[in-house]
Amino acid sequence: MVSSWVAPQFIKTTIARQLLTVIFAVSLSLAPRESFAEIHLRGEVGENVTVRCPVDRHKTLTFLYFQKGKEFVNGFHRLKNIQRKRWENTSVEEDDAAVQMCNLKASQSGEYQCYIQYKDETNVSDSVIHLSVTAKYSKPTVITLCHAKRCLLTCTSHGGYPRTKLTWNVIGNSSGLIWTDRKESEDSDPNTMLYNISSTVSFNCSYGEQMFIGCSVGDVTSEFLAVCVPKDRPHIRKLTICSIVLFIAIIVLFPVWKCVKNFFTGAAVKEII
Ligand SMILES: *[C@@H]1O[C@H](CO)[C@@H](O)[C@H](O)[C@H]1NC(C)=O
Ligand SMILES: *[C@@H]1O[C@H](CO)[C@@H](O)[C@H](O)[C@H]1NC(C)=O
Ligand SMILES: *[C@@H]1O[C@H](CO)[C@@H](O)[C@H](O)[C@H]1NC(C)=O
Ligand SMILES: *[C@@H]1O[C@H](CO)[C@@H](O)[C@H](O)[C@H]1NC(C)=O
Repeated sequence: MVSSWVAPQFIKTTIARQLLTVIFAVSLSLAPRESFAEIHLRGEVGENVTVRCPVDRHKTLTFLYFQKGKEFVNGFHRLKNIQRKRWENTSVEEDDAAVQMCNLKASQSGEYQCYIQYKDETNVSDSVIHLSVTAKYSKPTVITLCHAKRCLLTCTSHGGYPRTKLTWNVIGNSSGLIWTDRKESEDSDPNTMLYNISSTVSFNCSYGEQMFIGCSVGDVTSEFLAVCVPKDRPHIRKLTICSIVLFIAIIVLFPVWKCVKNFFTGAAVKEII
């Protein structure tokens, strides 16, 4: 039933297409045709979206077929029963010419068409709906692994759609940073199509400058981690030695001071007596 209206869209050969254009142009000039509309919609995985097919509210609809290419999604026909299987989690409101899609999946991204016909009219008008379903990536996390002067950082984030890349951010003096071996990886779940992404960088801390590194996906940023922290900074070593000397001095000098103090207070008491 729908295929007779949809068929022209799937004619592949150029000759047929050109022929179709001519026929189309002729038919356009002969019969009034509803203007073609293009609608862009966004949705989140797991959420709902309502697609309103553009219709003339003053006219009565005979049918509405909402399709994804050749695949029937949902719709109604006022004169006959639709035998085709409807997509799960979808429903149609005849009065509003609206199709509700619940619990969206990433795989439902794409181009949809509304084919409609009004009562007492033979022509069909169609429109294209671009639906983009996205999923938010988790807040990225960074782990570091340092050995000698070489650090390996891995940033990971899961459960997002569509595929994207992680970016690295550096706070501090990064002029001594030598980025090497950047590796990216991504895994997509075959059912949900959601991606897990990761990026690994290794770098050289020979310059001895401490810096803070984090990574981000879209506008979500990880915590920043300190890297290239000098383990044996000379001023820290000096400070440690000073503290130890002071500690020993206090331990040794305290009994001496107490003894001296006792001696004098003892003498003073004796004088009063
Ligand atoms: C999506 O639609 C379902 C079914 O109509 C409903 O139960 C659910 O609450 C809706 N979810 C949101 C986020 O609106
Ligand atoms: C950054 O580090 C480089 C090399 O280690 C050094 O020459 C430069 O002066 C530093 N800049 C700042 C602002 O600390
Ligand atoms: C993505 O990461 C989640 C959480 O770590 C994990 O449960 C899932 O199996 C991963 N999926 C793929 C395709 O690697
Ligand atoms: C790190 O950088 C220093 C100074 O440029 C260089 O001498 C050293 O070979 C580098 N080490 C590694 C592991 O790349």
